[in-house]
Amino acid sequence: MSLREQIKAELKAKDAVLVAHYYVSSDLQSLADETGGIVSDSLEMARFGHNSDAKTIIVAGVKFMGETAKILSPEKNIHVLDMNATCSLDEGCNADEFSDFCDKHSDRKVVVYANTSAQVKARADWMVTSGSAVSVINHLHESGEKILWAPDKHLGNYVQEQSSADMILWDGSCVVHEKFKADALETLKSLNPDSAILVHPESPKEVISLADFVGSTTALIKEASRRKEKTIIVATDNGIFHKMREAAPDKKLIEAPTMGESADCESCAHCEWMAMNSLDKCLSVLRNGDNEIFIDTKTSNKAKQSIQKLLDFTA
Ligand code: 13P
Ligand code: SF4
Repeated sequence: MSLREQIKAELKAKDAVLVAHYYVSSDLQSLADETGGIVSDSLEMARFGHNSDAKTIIVAGVKFMGETAKILSPEKNIHVLDMNATCSLDEGCNADEFSDFCDKHSDRKVVVYANTSAQVKARADWMVTSGSAVSVINHLHESGEKILWAPDKHLGNYVQEQSSADMILWDGSCVVHEKFKADALETLKSLNPDSAILVHPESPKEVISLADFVGSTTALIKEASRRKEKTIIVATDNGIFHKMREAAPDKKLIEAPTMGESADCESCAHCEWMAMNSLDKCLSVLRNGDNEIFIDTKTSNKAKQSIQKLLDFTA
């Protein structure tokens, strides 16, 4: 039996479903689709896992995605493919330091991005995703709230500009999006004057300022198929091209440049943690029950409140 067929058999035998993020490899994405799972953004992955009848959820993504799924479905067995697959935003926001930061600004609503640990979510009033951040902050701003935002400073800066809310920002960033280069992007655009530039808001503001459209992973895929331009330049992890090609088969898709004179990224335009996910690991996790996510009940219950606010707000 091929590796794919073995995984399919194990998924069935274990009453398990595979949920994959857009940034993992194409073979995992297509397997999730073929086996009744989902390929999606971080919020929809968790929502899907929660609504699924399956007893076990296999998360092909990074650790915080597994944790969010566990918080929403504590009764289910949630496994990630590699426990070391983390995220620079999560890593850069230590829960104790973050709690001290919150204590210093206790007059502010604490809003955190999904790319954080369960402990950080437990300290927050709201969790948001890139697709929901602007509308949540607009809502809080209109209600007269001042905001403490963490951890992504680029997304925070973008949201602040869109909403004019009073926000203080934690100093975190995504190592992948931070490497897109505005000057090289301008050059690429001049060589492709009839193209559209789509940008994920974790990118630096100089890159965002060149965008024809800014949005979450799901929004970028929809926009690629909607655009009238036949050439689309995309500033996000290149794993997204698998679904973008499916959604926009008539378009020429080009990766936004990360390489300039000053390029220093180790894994340009592809998240090294997302790249840790593989079919081999998927089979091993299914067979051996490795990499199960556990979160203590107190933390999980508190974190669930901040996630639930978003689910109710976006329902
Ligand atoms: P989305 O929530 O848009 O899927 O983004 C997750 C992520 O890690 C982007 O880098
Ligand atoms: Fe984190 Fe960036 Fe990787 Fe997304 S792409 S998981 S934000 S490091």
